[in-house]
Amino acid sequence: MLTSKIGEALVKAPSFESALNEVLKILYSYWDVRHSFISFFDPESQTLKIVSAFGLTKEQIRRAIFKKGEGMVGKVFKNELPVLLQDLEEKGYLNKLGLKDVVERGTSFLAVPLKTADQVLGVFGVFKKFKEGESKEKALELLQTLGTFISITYLINKKHSQERAFWEEEKKLLTQTLYENFGQEGIIGKSLAIQNLIKLVKKVAQTTANVLITGESGTGKSFIAKAIHFLSPRKNKPFVAVNCAAIPETLLEAELFGYEKGAFTGAFTSKKGKFELADGGTIFLDEIGDLPLALQPKLLKVLQEREIEKLGREEPIKVDVRIIAATNRPLEELIKEGHFREDLYYRLNVITLHLPPLRERQEDIPLLAEYFLYKFNRRYEKEVFLSPEVIEIFKKYPWPGNVRELENLIERLVILSEGVILPTDLPGYILKGITSHEKEPPLPSFIEDKEKEEIVKALEKTGYVKSRAAKLLGLTLRQLDYRIKKYNIPVTRY
Ligand SMILES: Nc1ncnc2c1ncn2[C@@H]1O[C@H](COP(=O)(O)OP(=O)(O)OP(=O)(O)O)[C@@H](O)[C@H]1O
Ligand SMILES: [Mg+2]
Repeated sequence: MLTSKIGEALVKAPSFESALNEVLKILYSYWDVRHSFISFFDPESQTLKIVSAFGLTKEQIRRAIFKKGEGMVGKVFKNELPVLLQDLEEKGYLNKLGLKDVVERGTSFLAVPLKTADQVLGVFGVFKKFKEGESKEKALELLQTLGTFISITYLINKKHSQERAFWEEEKKLLTQTLYENFGQEGIIGKSLAIQNLIKLVKKVAQTTANVLITGESGTGKSFIAKAIHFLSPRKNKPFVAVNCAAIPETLLEAELFGYEKGAFTGAFTSKKGKFELADGGTIFLDEIGDLPLALQPKLLKVLQEREIEKLGREEPIKVDVRIIAATNRPLEELIKEGHFREDLYYRLNVITLHLPPLRERQEDIPLLAEYFLYKFNRRYEKEVFLSPEVIEIFKKYPWPGNVRELENLIERLVILSEGVILPTDLPGYILKGITSHEKEPPLPSFIEDKEKEEIVKALEKTGYVKSRAAKLLGLTLRQLDYRIKKYNIPVTRY
């Protein structure tokens, strides 16, 4: 009963100190211990000091400091053996604790060392008045068991706090390095373009204005959209991203606005749309240039009225959503071609953030390279470095796939190399790229490589008839078109 109560207290208490206080309280309530204390050895002062006490005044606690071997407490610590003293008031042991006048006649003092496998931590002492027939030996045994509990808890606690301190330190170091060397708010770059962008992002984040982010593929549009959300007062609310090009046209409306049960054949349940899911937060409409013309008036309505029309539902639903859109296609041209509504464009484009291609901000290349190197070295537990020559080559290479290409290349180099990376370790197209200044297709990641390969194969098999290739791949024509664009796959027409 007593041991299980104490075990529970040790496990449940929010801190080690409060656990000890709990233990002493339990001993008072369930075992009639009116005065008790737990002392730990302080290596700095080389003395035993009380860390938790029950039934002792502040003054008594302050005075109860023992050297190794001094007094009963010091002796228990030094000899690493328990003691049992009966009829205390007749012996002079309580001087230093000042308990002489406090303890009742017939009270005994029991103390046990707090030990771990290789170390004595301190002393656990209690003053207890035994009832007739109550075994003092049993009491001492019990106290030793409790002492073991306490010592184990101490060890576990110490390990935890060491680990916590280690991770706290790691975290501090990491954020510090990030901030000092790489930029602010996790956005890396010292070029004027990026510095201005950081300023704008911070300002814009405080508003709910619609933002349009433009830039080539891989320049960091999605990344900046997230940064805006997480720097905004909406940061604790959802961030919902929708890629308008990757979802088949027929499903996109339901995906964005949701539907009610029975809205169409097959709508057995109702479904929340992305706008509803993003309520209170931010919706990120990626590849907005690919939003089908038929859906554009519906989005415009959301922007104007701040409410959505759910399929199969009469009355509109109010939503409070911040809208960020991104595109790597020039919307102005799409407007001229009649593929994008001008009114929608002006609504989305209250604030435009443009991300220049990496080749136009060369001074960011070494920073980004070092940052990705640091990231992947940690991830793969490696210690790979870039030689200065490699950095020079990076600065000259045109990076058609922009930051993503650089990131993927460095991930690959970290995985495949050891030690210093020299120009000869770089893939051939990089060296070719700097000499010929020809545009090379973006470097895809391993998975993207595979996907691209599959698409090329399917196109070859079907004689470059895209609709047939799409069928073969299990994609819609739109999805295939999106990927052909993304991977820069040359489509030869016959
Ligand atoms: N300034 C930056 N600092 C740190 N990381 C960056 C920065 N810019 C881009 N990145 C990283 O580069 C990668 C590519 O960025 P992101 O996916 O945002 O590009 P994107 O413009 O959205 O591309 P796409 O048009 O293909 O969607 C991401 O892993 C992103 O975290
Ligand atoms: Mg993106």
